[in-house]
Formats: sequence, C-alpha cells, structure tokens
Amino acid sequence: MESHLKRVVLGVTGGVAAYKSAELARLLVKAGLDVQVVMTEAAGHFIGAATFQAITGHPVFTSLWDERVDNGMAHIDLSRGVEAILVAPASADFLARLAQGRADDLLTTLCLARDCPLLVAPAMNRQMWENPATTRNMYQLGLDGVALLGPDTGEQACGEVGFGRMLEPEELLDALLAWFQPKRLRGLKVLMTAGPTYEAIDAVRGITNRSSGKMGYALARAALEAGAEVTLISGPTGLKPPPDAETIQVVSAQEMLEAVEARVGEVDIFIAVAAVADYYVLNPSDNKIKKDAHILTLELAPNPDILANVTALPKPPFCVGFAAESENLEEYAELKRKRKHLPLIVANDAREAIGSDRVQLVLMDDQGRHVLDTADKLTQARRIVAHLADLYNQRYP
Ligand code: CTP
Repeated sequence: MESHLKRVVLGVTGGVAAYKSAELARLLVKAGLDVQVVMTEAAGHFIGAATFQAITGHPVFTSLWDERVDNGMAHIDLSRGVEAILVAPASADFLARLAQGRADDLLTTLCLARDCPLLVAPAMNRQMWENPATTRNMYQLGLDGVALLGPDTGEQACGEVGFGRMLEPEELLDALLAWFQPKRLRGLKVLMTAGPTYEAIDAVRGITNRSSGKMGYALARAALEAGAEVTLISGPTGLKPPPDAETIQVVSAQEMLEAVEARVGEVDIFIAVAAVADYYVLNPSDNKIKKDAHILTLELAPNPDILANVTALPKPPFCVGFAAESENLEEYAELKRKRKHLPLIVANDAREAIGSDRVQLVLMDDQGRHVLDTADKLTQARRIVAHLADLYNQRYP
C-alpha cells in the first residue's frame, strides 16, 4: 500500500450492517493499518467488542468514562496520531448527532475533537435514508467537510429494496485508500481506451483478443483517485465501469476511433490501453454464415491506429501508450514509443499480462527505463499515474 495512511479509528454504530464491520476491520488490518475500534452502545446490540479486539489486537472503547485511559480523556487520546476516522456503519441517529455537533457519547465526542478527516458509511432502511431529516443532516455534514462513502442500493435487512445499504467491506477499504491518494491530476481531463475490440465476421461471430480490460479500468480508477475527470472508451469486457468515470462502450476499432476523435480535442491526457484489433473483416455478413464443405476465406483490412492518429494531431494531448510484447520487451517498446512519438510507454509481457491480476511493468520515457516491480494492477496503475503526472508537470509546469 503506497499511502501515508497508517492508523485509523473505526467507529461502529448500531445497525445490522455492524456484522460487516468485523470483516472491514480484518481488511484494514490486512492492508497494514493499525485499527482502533470505538463502538457506540447501540452497536453492542449487534456485535461484540471481543470480535473487534481479537481482529485488531486492541481493546475496544465505548464509554467516555473508561477507566483504562489514564488521564480520563479517551476522546482526545484516541483521535491523536490517527490519519482518519471511518464510521461504518453510520446509523441515521449517529449522523443526526454528528450533524448537530453533539458530544453525548465517546464516538461523537471523538469526532468533534478530531484533527483528521472523517469518513462515514451510512447504513439504514431506505425510508430513513430518504427522510428529509436525514437529507438535511447529510447536506450539513457535506458542508462540514465530512466525506460520504455510499450508501449503495439493493436488498436490505428489513426485506425492502432501495438506497441505504452500507457499501461492502472491500468497497469501503478501496474508498478509504482512494480518498488518501495524492491528487496529482486534479483539474486535468483524461481520455482513455481499454479492453479488446471485436471485429464482426457475421451476425454472431467475430475476431477479438484476450485482453480483459483490467489494466485500463484500474488506470481509469487511479486517474479518478488522483483527481482527474476521466472518460473511458471501452471495448467489450464485462467489467463494472468505475462509477465516477464517463464510460462509453464501443465494439469495433472504427467505433473506438470515432469515440476518441469526438473527445480528444478537449482533454489534457490520452492513455491508450486498449488492445485494438489490427485488422477488421471486409464485408461482414449480416446473417450467420452457413457452413459448407468449401474453404472459407476472410478478407482482412488494416484498422486505423488510434494512438498514432492522436499523436499526429496538430496539438495532441500528452499521450501514453502500452506495448505488450512476448520477446525483446524493452527494445520493441522503445521502438514503438519512438514510432508513435510518445513521451511515455508502458511495456509488459503479453503472456503475463493477459488474465493475470499481478504484473511487472517497465515504463520507458526520455530519461530511460523504470521498472515497476510485480504488483496488482491497481497498485501498478497508481504508480503509472504518479509517473505520468511528474512527466506532465515537467512538460507543462
Ligand atoms: N493502438 C491503437 N490503435 C491500434 C493499435 C494500437 O491505439 N489500432 C495503441 C494501443 O492501445 C497501445 C499501442 O497502440 O497503446 C500498442 O501499439 P501497437 O504497435 O499497435 O501494438 P501491437 O498491435 O501489439 O503492435 P505489434 O503487432 O507491432 O507488436
């Protein structure tokens, strides 16, 4: 994990979703964080303190009058030296008390006395969430600088369906880490391509490749986390688009090119991650081709090179390319970088990259090569964003 987040307070309030907070605590600890749990009294009706103590290795605090704190000031002691307070689940009652600046239990007092960011993950019945009182409280908390994580929509413990469901523990961990990423691309517009393209042969068949789209989607997310406005043009992947990106789904290379051309004039950075098919089928059949005993010949014509088209513009944005190679990785990648006039290219082993979640990458720029040791794709995406932001700032100080 590459952020300065090391210690957090996890606040747990009274809601059915409190059972998920145990899993959240486990994920936070697994991510290398020191976690101090503070529960409200109501939370104790849903989950036991012993569970959190076992997971975090720290005793859990609930009361303002806890005799275990030498100076009697648990509300001050517990919030000092932590980089964040995350309250998950945050009940409607807790949020109301927070919005009013109440200090009627340890957790609200801790929030009032904090000198670090406060993030809340609401969890409540959909009617409680939609109630004007809750809307008012959330509006006030937004003005007060409290960060909101979720809620999500879906099936609720009460059997109803709607907004108010707490985000899943993995999503909360991701959101917390994302919140702490440096905002290196703030104010910049990023356009990206991702995934494979699909070139139709007939009504039901086509030519495509094994690109999963995971690297492109991870980069979209890393760029969003870094504060950029992101437009993602994606071939068919089946991946869930990053919620805060504008995502445009396309099928063929020609469609991808048109989508890029329509938007590239407005952006600061263009990142071509897509594995664009090099050829398309001339005269694809509108109907399903019936088999017969004859040899079937497909005529293929070259697709446009989207990235090369962008770098050839009179005023191109800052362009980043990818090179997936199965041999002579750095040599071929550098040739590609020069041929396409790119300030930065990301090289990877084509066989390793496909389908795998962990990859090694080499960044090639005017200064030389920079190896990014094997890591998951989101970590690599964050490293790429850090590097490209440095290059961008050198070029446009
Ligand atoms: N690219 C593109 N449009 C294409 C082909 C590639 O935008 N029609 C972009 C990819 O998104 C990637 C880079 O160009 O950023 C890859 O370069 P390329 O030389 O086309 O890669 P390959 O197709 O793998 O080339 P080769 O077969 O020469 O290795």
